[in-house]
Amino acid sequence: MSEIVSATKKKKICLSCIQPTGVITLGNYLGAVKNWAEMQDDYNCIFAVADLHAITVRQEPAALRKNTREMVAILLACGIDPERSLLFIQSHVPAHSQLAWVLNCYTQFGELSRMTQFKDKSARYADNINAGLFTYPALMAADILLYQADVVPVGADQKQHLEITRDIANRMNGLYPNLFTVPEPFIPKKAARVMSLQNPDKKMSKSDPNPKGCIAILDTEDQIIKKFKSAVTDSEAQVVYREGKDGINNLMSIYSAFSGKDYAEIEKEFEGKGYGDFKLAVGQTVADALKPIREEYDRLMKDPAHLDEICKNGAETASRFAYRTLNKVYKKVGFLPYGGK
Ligand code: TYM
Repeated sequence: MSEIVSATKKKKICLSCIQPTGVITLGNYLGAVKNWAEMQDDYNCIFAVADLHAITVRQEPAALRKNTREMVAILLACGIDPERSLLFIQSHVPAHSQLAWVLNCYTQFGELSRMTQFKDKSARYADNINAGLFTYPALMAADILLYQADVVPVGADQKQHLEITRDIANRMNGLYPNLFTVPEPFIPKKAARVMSLQNPDKKMSKSDPNPKGCIAILDTEDQIIKKFKSAVTDSEAQVVYREGKDGINNLMSIYSAFSGKDYAEIEKEFEGKGYGDFKLAVGQTVADALKPIREEYDRLMKDPAHLDEICKNGAETASRFAYRTLNKVYKKVGFLPYGGK
């Protein structure tokens, strides 16, 4: 772990988080986690399970605990390597909440009101529009700025949160020079927004009321193929990437992300073939790619103590980074240090 701390100066810092709210979807995987695993060679990577964010929507406590540990196992199974990257649980590093409070005081009501995620979630959870849901972006900015992250790999839906993080960092740097690194989003070219298989104009999401629309990373081969076979497409029968063909475009972007083929190659491969063949090929490709993840997950879940140890070590190292920044911030904003010095 100490190599991670001392190597920080040489490589750029990459940070990202995921909420432990149930299964991870093919959208989470292609939009974010697959890229996290691939970035570990080139960056000093920091990944966290964002349990503090999760309670902006009401959670059943036992389920949240279970989902949090399962998320750690899934991330490891997806290739996050604790020897090379920091992996921890957000609530284990109190500096996240501490910096979030300071950032809240430098974030404007107006800019938070413009967040589309707040608007969507307050419509969906109309009986629980809590202050945490509103100030969520300040906590997310704290996650990122605490580690002076250079790059944040996320799906397209998080772009607006990255923009407000940059605004907050620039605003604070204007008041207190060189306080924060201003992070860049890293949004993949393919599959940055994986759409529901049943409703291709809506983002694939674990909260999709139609379970056939969402592929969970732990789905079995049979489940995956069945869901792709029943994917909603259009009334043509030509596998081409074109505006208006949302269902086919979505399947093509998923296939492209796994196979590395570009759209022209895919069109050629399926020239003269029907949608049935194409859907089956996409389903099989996804099932084959996810199988080793499911197997590794099953293996890891047999030893929860090992998972907890990884998180504990991760949080200890993360805290050292985090408190370095937090102390700097506390000093700049004018807090009298503990003990007076
Ligand atoms: P979350 O937990 O909703 O999603 C985790 C990651 O998955 C991406 N994603 C998708 N990408 C493509 N297509 C989809 N259908 C899809 N659905 C989800 C998300 O863009 C995200 O990258 N606020 C964040 C968690 C967070 C965070 C952070 C991220 C908290 N602190 C600091 C980056 C940096 C969220 O709710 O992600």
